[in-house]
Amino acid sequence: MRRCFELAKQGEGNVAPNPMVGAVLVFNDLIIGEGYHSEFGKEHAEVNCINNVSNEHLHLINQSTLYVSLEPCSHFGKTPPCTNSIIEKKIPKVVIGCQDSFLQVDGRGIETLRTAGIEVVCPILEEDALDLNKRFFTFHAKHRPYIILKWAQTANEMIAQNNYSRLLISHEITNRQVHKWRSEEASVLVGTTTALLDNPSLTNRLWPGKTPIRLVIDSNLKIQATSYLLDGSVQTIVFNSIKQEQVGATLYFKLSGNKSWVSQISEALYQMNIQSLLVEGGANLLQSFIDENYWDEARVITNTVMEVSEGLKAPILKNAEKYYSEAIEKDLIQYYRRIMAS
Ligand SMILES: NC(=O)c1ccc[n+]([C@@H]2O[C@H](COP(=O)([O-])OP(=O)(O)OC[C@H]3O[C@@H](n4cnc5c(N)ncnc54)[C@H](OP(=O)(O)O)[C@@H]3O)[C@@H](O)[C@H]2O)c1
Ligand SMILES: [Zn+2]
Repeated sequence: MRRCFELAKQGEGNVAPNPMVGAVLVFNDLIIGEGYHSEFGKEHAEVNCINNVSNEHLHLINQSTLYVSLEPCSHFGKTPPCTNSIIEKKIPKVVIGCQDSFLQVDGRGIETLRTAGIEVVCPILEEDALDLNKRFFTFHAKHRPYIILKWAQTANEMIAQNNYSRLLISHEITNRQVHKWRSEEASVLVGTTTALLDNPSLTNRLWPGKTPIRLVIDSNLKIQATSYLLDGSVQTIVFNSIKQEQVGATLYFKLSGNKSWVSQISEALYQMNIQSLLVEGGANLLQSFIDENYWDEARVITNTVMEVSEGLKAPILKNAEKYYSEAIEKDLIQYYRRIMAS
């Protein structure tokens, strides 16, 4: 099963909004096939795994055990159901990491296999299997994207100086890490003041892989047309209270109504099938996600040797539990997750 997780991760960044899935076919102690879901719309892990078996081992398939990190699908989507292939190949036993809570599967895959007389073992290493697809599961369970908060602070917990001149807090190697984080998420968001003062491009330039969809709050459309965020180089959504309009790669998305903008943005991203969100500041915007309990993870970079006498205070996490930390040069990166109240 751990090998299935390893294989699944090869699809990271390319399969969303589908989950990452890996599969291994084992005869006695011999792996005769491996596969993973590599790209949205392409074959699923189970099918790739079966197709990967070499000619000399084909006769062993009907005596082998299929390990798969997620419950096989039993519905027609972009590809035919994987349960069909498993049944056709007469695989006698299937071991599954966790059930797929996606409405169109949700236990039906397991049921289909059992009805066909196949022995099914599920779950195995469930916590790891759920964690592997935390974005996918959160998205379907909570009807909102998986939300990661990120900021960099000085040793005395400031994220900017008082005069708002741009403060470069994190080390250049840490910046690569941040670009890697961008490559892993579907979207990245900043607040109005950050967009106005810092003119960020929010692209992924320092790591292989994709740039996420850029999101910015600009209620009164104050951001200059010449800013990087409006350069049309990447799909960008400007949440505002004035207009709904698509201009090239930029979508002006009008929000209205009484609900908070944090909840309206989350809802809009859900409707657009955007499964994850990295919130990159500033303090005001981050604090509103924290106060409204709209977050799953926080990654806080602290430059342990830099101090500014006066500045903008870093956000304050609530209901947070630290689960990991690492050092990059003089930076300490602390990883928190939200303790679930809801
Ligand atoms: N160190 C870091 O990691 C980091 C990261 C990013 C930014 N920064 C720094 O932080 C400073 C800016 O931070 P900031 O806290 O002043 O500003 P900010 O969070 O970037 O932007 C605040 C503005 O965005 C809009 N906004 C934010 N949250 C909203 C919500 N929940 N609902 C509706 N509108 C919302 C509001 O605009 P309106 O008032 O127009 O409605 C608000 O005034 C800059 O100096 C920047 O350099 C540091
Ligand atoms: Zn499938």
